[in-house]
Amino acid sequence: MRLDKYLAHATGLSRKEVKRALHKKSVTVNAQVIRDSAFQVNDSDDIVFQQKNIDAPKLRYLMLNKPQGYVCSNEDPSHPTIAGLLTDEIRPQELNIAGRLDADTTGLLLITSDGQWLHKITSPNHKQPKRYLVETADPIDPTAIELFAKGIELKNEKHPTKAATLEIIESHMAYLTLTEGRYHQVKRMFAAIGNKVTELHRDRIGAIVLDEDLGTGEYRELTDAEISQVQ
Ligand code: URA
Repeated sequence: MRLDKYLAHATGLSRKEVKRALHKKSVTVNAQVIRDSAFQVNDSDDIVFQQKNIDAPKLRYLMLNKPQGYVCSNEDPSHPTIAGLLTDEIRPQELNIAGRLDADTTGLLLITSDGQWLHKITSPNHKQPKRYLVETADPIDPTAIELFAKGIELKNEKHPTKAATLEIIESHMAYLTLTEGRYHQVKRMFAAIGNKVTELHRDRIGAIVLDEDLGTGEYRELTDAEISQVQ
């Protein structure tokens, strides 16, 4: 990992603050002063920052129950953000959201500082299924099951959608499971069959299911079992 990233994770400082400290020669790696932010370090290096030994940063893995109206970014001029829901102890770390949701969508967000784990969730090659509970304006036509399974053309897209599984629960409610994440995909798929999504909630990514005990806006650390379920 880059030295500036490692120190930002381990100390809670921003990368800018870390860079400043590096320029002031306040960091040694294996007893050598290092000023290069991109210098590569690993857990076995002996890193001293402002005369203190720095332990390897703890990688973080969180699940959060996203409320409606929040945007999946660190800052936004007009909406409350997911970052604002996290405590100060967690927020300064370099956290990434695996599979963002629209502001009006609720439910499961996975947030992590582990780049490799993030890649396994977001990369199309790993095909982590994401399940959405969808409510619609009009009754859901059962022909949508086959259309979504075969893949449908979306406006301004070259390729049809990948096979998706639709389970109709009630006339206006269904589970839709996708293995890709295109822009506004669920809403656009329903729009393509002449319907409109009125409520959208994600409850599952791969084998990780949104914890029913989490109220909206609450989060918890993932268990070791949940972390290792992502392959
Ligand atoms: N599809 C959408 O349309 N919106 C989301 O937030 C997620 C998937």
